[in-house]
Amino acid sequence: MSIKPILYQNGHCLMIDQRLLPGKEEWRSYDDYRGIAEAIRTMVIRGAPAIGVAATFGAAFGARSLEVDDFGRFRDRMEAICAELAATRPTAVNLFWALEKVRRFILDHRDAPIPRLKEGLLELAIGMAEEDERINRALGRFGNALIPDRARILTHCNAGALATAGYGTALGVIRAAFEAGKKISVFADETRPWLQGARLTAWELQQDGIPVTLICDNMAGHLMARGEIDCVVVGADRIAANGDTANKIGTYTLAVLCRAHALPFYIAAPLSTVDASLSDGALIPIEERGREEVVRHGGVELAPAGIPVRNPVFDVTPAPLITAIITEAGVVRGDLGAGLKSLLEQRPPDAH
Ligand code: MRU
Repeated sequence: MSIKPILYQNGHCLMIDQRLLPGKEEWRSYDDYRGIAEAIRTMVIRGAPAIGVAATFGAAFGARSLEVDDFGRFRDRMEAICAELAATRPTAVNLFWALEKVRRFILDHRDAPIPRLKEGLLELAIGMAEEDERINRALGRFGNALIPDRARILTHCNAGALATAGYGTALGVIRAAFEAGKKISVFADETRPWLQGARLTAWELQQDGIPVTLICDNMAGHLMARGEIDCVVVGADRIAANGDTANKIGTYTLAVLCRAHALPFYIAAPLSTVDASLSDGALIPIEERGREEVVRHGGVELAPAGIPVRNPVFDVTPAPLITAIITEAGVVRGDLGAGLKSLLEQRPPDAH
């Protein structure tokens, strides 16, 4: 039973504060869109699918607070609310995909009374959270077929239950293999600078009794060279039309290492992570965060004062380095662009 990091209860959105894990399990309660925007920006909640779900609750709560009774004003105020939610983080496309669903819902229901629109947006958010977990379980089943018994799997960052509405993407594949009775084990990269691997992946797998060993990011090559890793499975924040994939900084390095050691490198992501409007990965906006994430940890100075710092928090892995992309609709190999296009075309219209 994996954790659900975002819950709806009695008009409030509850989120486990991921900045405090694993030391403290503290839940925060939100009932307005500005609070939710701040939670996304400051990484109380993080991970591509989870921030999409959180933004949809933000839009629903924003709608709930509006005191307007004509459609034009409702739509204009909602545009402004969606723009504030969209300005929180730039790379994960699930955020923009979710807000686009909100906009489409509003336009498709332009003839409905405003109270019905407000209810409908809340139902959209609740439905999106439920659907996300179903998608991850489907994706996990497809991914399980690629994982041999006794596989030693390396993962990076946290693409787990904590990064989604439940079950996880890369960790969904790992959970599915474990639930199928395979004697797998996991190496979790610590994932400097925010330590999603050490703090979140290690915690979440340990909670579920899935064997996990923590390593520093710079240890992966050594373990691969010694034959101690069988494959890499990671999540994604945005996949361009040709299959180039943005994910947590350090993912590209792992893909290059996999190529050097002839190991499979898998991306696990829902189709909502595909941004078909971008022809290739060079067009994906890469978030750069503040210097303090690199130079300070837990109040301890890690570098000399005033040292120049770069902190790009995602990188792009070129499609030719990716063995396969695991989605809820199947596994894409070879020409990733063509494979993704065909899966996207087969989706039911309301999934777009
Ligand atoms: O900065 P974060 O923690 O939001 O980055 C998260 C990742 O890079 C994940 O690997 C990605 O969002 C996939 S989550 C299922």
